[in-house]
Amino acid sequence: TGSWSSVHFKSYNFEADGKNTESGCLHPLLKVREQFRLLFVQLGFEEMPTDNYVESSFWNFDALFQPQQHPARDAHDTFFLSDPICAQINDRDYFERVKTVHEKGGYGSLGYQYQWEESEAKTTILRTHTTAVSSRVLHKLASDYLNECKSGTNVEFKPRKYFSIDRVFRNETLDATHLAEFHQIEGLVAGRGLSLADLKGVIGEFFRKLGMKKLRFKPAHNPYTEPSMEIFSYHDGLQKWVEVGNSGIFRPEMLRPMGLPADVRVIAWGLSLERPTMIMYGIKNIRDLFGHKVDISTIKSNPMCRLGLSES
Ligand code: PHE
Repeated sequence: TGSWSSVHFKSYNFEADGKNTESGCLHPLLKVREQFRLLFVQLGFEEMPTDNYVESSFWNFDALFQPQQHPARDAHDTFFLSDPICAQINDRDYFERVKTVHEKGGYGSLGYQYQWEESEAKTTILRTHTTAVSSRVLHKLASDYLNECKSGTNVEFKPRKYFSIDRVFRNETLDATHLAEFHQIEGLVAGRGLSLADLKGVIGEFFRKLGMKKLRFKPAHNPYTEPSMEIFSYHDGLQKWVEVGNSGIFRPEMLRPMGLPADVRVIAWGLSLERPTMIMYGIKNIRDLFGHKVDISTIKSNPMCRLGLSES
């Protein structure tokens, strides 16, 4: 009809942004976790299986030479389960060796000189640290090594590097920086004749990759490591030293009952995932990061995370 020629059309705006499409987003903790995972993989570490939140006191404490009266086992810090109330023990010989090292010692140690209760070791809990995962993996490493020795001669112990990043649970009083569940990052290296120098070297390299070059170590105490050291890094923004992790060399009372050769040392360190995430994303209250009070829109708008790319 030709009527179109008298109609006014709006002109096209080729500069206008399109409508935002809805898509899935990763929580900042997952972003930072992925970056830590990449960092470990770049350094040649294997990931440990962390898929069990429910653990026995045995793997969480006893295998780590943590005495049964230790305050951290108390119901104030540990969540105990009522169902199942009791865990199974598979490696009976190892279980007995752990009992002996607690009661009487061995491998140059006097032990704790108390009566170790099997029932206490079998109680079920929510794991309080990922070092429970490390103790299972090291026990498996030792068993595999012993089996290889039985079937062959001149079996070499191969050095191994492991890491894990997953959730742990503590019955804490909740405040701006503490929740009853959080994530731990843990690394460990097993090899013959490793020393404190190796520990400081490996940890130094790890944190250097994260962009933290000024590090200090402070003597500390863990029941399962000797020596133990807290790790501090100088924070340029805050203009002070902040604690960034905990570390040490696992004690012979932990490793020898597993069956690891006497000169195999295991160096290890751990840190929380929440702390670096809060610093990186400028979050002051942990409840803005995790839990039911989190504002979903901040999850959608938070920036991507890149760790240590400039340092690689
Ligand atoms: N398990 C310790 C914690 O919960 C961290 C740690 C790991 C310390 C390995 C020493 C060695 O704080």
